[in-house]
Amino acid sequence: MSVGSRRRAALTRAELLREMGLARPWRLREQRPAAGTVLTPSADEVVECHRPAGLDPPPAADRRAEIAALDWPQLRQSVADCRACGLCRERRQAVLGVGDVNADWLFIGEGPGAEEDARGEPFVGPAGKLLDAMLAAIDLRRGDDVYIANAVKCRPPGNRTPEAGEMAACAPYLNRQIALIQPRLIVLLGRAAANSVLGEVGSLASLRGRSLTYRGALPGGPEIPVVVTYHPAYLLRTMLDKAKAWEDLCRARALWRAVRAAPPPG
Ligand code: URA
Repeated sequence: MSVGSRRRAALTRAELLREMGLARPWRLREQRPAAGTVLTPSADEVVECHRPAGLDPPPAADRRAEIAALDWPQLRQSVADCRACGLCRERRQAVLGVGDVNADWLFIGEGPGAEEDARGEPFVGPAGKLLDAMLAAIDLRRGDDVYIANAVKCRPPGNRTPEAGEMAACAPYLNRQIALIQPRLIVLLGRAAANSVLGEVGSLASLRGRSLTYRGALPGGPEIPVVVTYHPAYLLRTMLDKAKAWEDLCRARALWRAVRAAPPPG
């Protein structure tokens, strides 16, 4: 156990949440599954990964196939050089992602903001600080069994929400990251990330708490459980929903434990 984990283990829930700056809003109790319960996505709730409708224009099949064959250094270079959508015009740099490339946990946000664009790392601004606190609350740490990426790799001007076409242009990169990392669990932060990974499947409220599965863009790809929760930037503005996000994190942790304990497929 790391020093950080030992210290966190020694803290009470209230102390931990206070450390996150979230003592009052994060007040729900963790709902532990009954002993012996195995959480698996129910078949009727599986949502396949697909691209959002109405894209303009769809990424060429050969571009997708090319990206699907890249290794990490090639992927980094390809993202740095990418000109597939208009976001490349105003970026300082593309932001691929950060963390453990063999992580069990993959967190996906929307797109880089000003600080991320300047530093080349996702979630380093105020929303990133909250994300780090959320990770710590479930005993995770950036870079340690956790990888953090975004639906789009270049900053949308004025930090606007990325458009469907921009997310579609970037989707082959995100799909390649997922295929390389092979996480055991994907946590989608906010509606843009949910739309990018799952397609246009409903409001954030309708996706929270559901058993969802990412299926790779290519046949035979991995099937990975997905948890959808609020984006940290939204939580910074909307204190009341932190309790719901805490619920989602507890669910994600229970799901990860169940997936890890399950025998390998086959
Ligand atoms: N918001 C995001 O969605 N991603 C970042 O990297 C930073 C803020």
